[in-house]
Amino acid sequence: MAMINKYDFIVIGSGIAGLTFALKVAKHGTVAIVTKKEDRESNTNYAQGGIASVLSNTDSIDSHISDTLIAGAGLCHEDAVRMMVMEGKSCIDELIKFGVEFSKNEAGALELGMEGGHSQNRIIHAKDFTGKEIERALIKATKENKSITVFENHIAIDLLVSEETAGEKTCDGVWVFNSKTETKKLFTGKCVMLCSGGVGNVFQHTTNPAIATGDGIAMAYRAGAKVANMEFVQFHPTSLYAPDANSFLISEALRGFGGVLKLKDGSTFMEKYHPLKSLAPRDIVARAIEKEMKLNNEPCVYLDATHLVSEKLKQEFPNIYNQCLKFGIDITKEMIPVVPAAHYMCGGIVTDKNAHTSIRRLYASGECACTGVHGANRLASNSLLEAVVYSRNAAADVVLLEDNLFAFTPSIEDEHSKTKSNFNLSKLSIIKSSIQKTMTQYVGIVRNNIGLQTALEKISVLKNEAEEIFKNNPLSYETIELRHFALTAKLIVEFAIQRKESRGLHYNIDYPETMESWKHDSVIEIQKRIIE
Ligand code: SIN
Repeated sequence: MAMINKYDFIVIGSGIAGLTFALKVAKHGTVAIVTKKEDRESNTNYAQGGIASVLSNTDSIDSHISDTLIAGAGLCHEDAVRMMVMEGKSCIDELIKFGVEFSKNEAGALELGMEGGHSQNRIIHAKDFTGKEIERALIKATKENKSITVFENHIAIDLLVSEETAGEKTCDGVWVFNSKTETKKLFTGKCVMLCSGGVGNVFQHTTNPAIATGDGIAMAYRAGAKVANMEFVQFHPTSLYAPDANSFLISEALRGFGGVLKLKDGSTFMEKYHPLKSLAPRDIVARAIEKEMKLNNEPCVYLDATHLVSEKLKQEFPNIYNQCLKFGIDITKEMIPVVPAAHYMCGGIVTDKNAHTSIRRLYASGECACTGVHGANRLASNSLLEAVVYSRNAAADVVLLEDNLFAFTPSIEDEHSKTKSNFNLSKLSIIKSSIQKTMTQYVGIVRNNIGLQTALEKISVLKNEAEEIFKNNPLSYETIELRHFALTAKLIVEFAIQRKESRGLHYNIDYPETMESWKHDSVIEIQKRIIE
């Protein structure tokens, strides 16, 4: 018999979006946070840069909005951007109230860093481990809150969505698998909040942790929620190029601090591509690096910080300094070898300003959501801010929801056996690595039509295999995750094929122009084509 867990609010994911939401709604009811590994393992934990917010006298709300719109290449929703930017200061204040300790300058005021695409210093940060510091404080606050229960090692399988009535669907809960006890559970409540993060692992090289496999987006899509703009995958220009470095992020803040992109011979190249040089918007920097690597037949380019005051460098970037040292690179004396790596999904589950999706009682916030803020290319350090703003709005919305009177009657299918899985695990890792290889080869920074069609054929076969393995075997963490992963990859390919222009992060050499006729989100056209 499947176990039923009833909570008022169910949150999938334990990054900044999920924890902020949980802490806000905990005053109004019981909260379950479902997380597939440990509570700390989220994209937030790996964020180095910070939170963009207008705090200096020389800065303005309009300037932050304008920088965001320019980066977004015509697809940002200006109302969403304005709402987010206006709440910047109150979000920072709230995080400080939750115990987050941001870096301060000598005068005791919050230190404002610079990152690509920003015209002002406005990045509030905690040295170069901002995400980790936010996670530390928010996890501590959730642990101290008696209304919140965290379910670690619980991976979400699928949303439970009731039949359409008058064209509307309702989310009544979510099926979850406890990978330690190998049991399936149903969580039901007033609403489900998806905060499941990004998708970076569908590529071979990513700055994301291994858990970023698109689970929430895949579940929402299967349930029939609107998903948009999945072609816009942001590649971070600078991840550490070193064997076993796992694409460790070299924060853009280091370029904001004076680091300069160079070739092996020490010459600069970014002046050929953009007036902001090393601090141009990310799509431009990533494409320029890829081009220079090809032109020079080199596996990487370099980030030079050796001209900066070494004590200051170590003080401001202790995480980067120590990690690079582990790989034998002293950043105060040597240039850092860097390559672009998949970093952030700008598309995702479509939400309104309250993080409400197209399904009743289903919400989404953070990287898995598509709020309209990022458009075709996210401005650096806007994502943590977006997550806090939308999770707060969602919290204010869901506390008004009436109880869900839904009563669950399990079907035979819901009663998965507890038998140990007996399929060959190596088969799953072959499917996973084939997807990653295909996505990297054909759906990366520079795309073309033949490559995208090839990717579609290959990924379709791999996705079907992943589905078959999921259906024909007892539940396991690996089969559940692979099913989400494969669908996420297929969505990215389908969306990339659909957009017949180049814009922001989507660059197709067969359609190099940006077209007025494509100045819109890609949503409806693709829905329902993938899931038969
Ligand atoms: C970085 O530190 O470069 C990442 C910040 C971000 O992705 O917003």
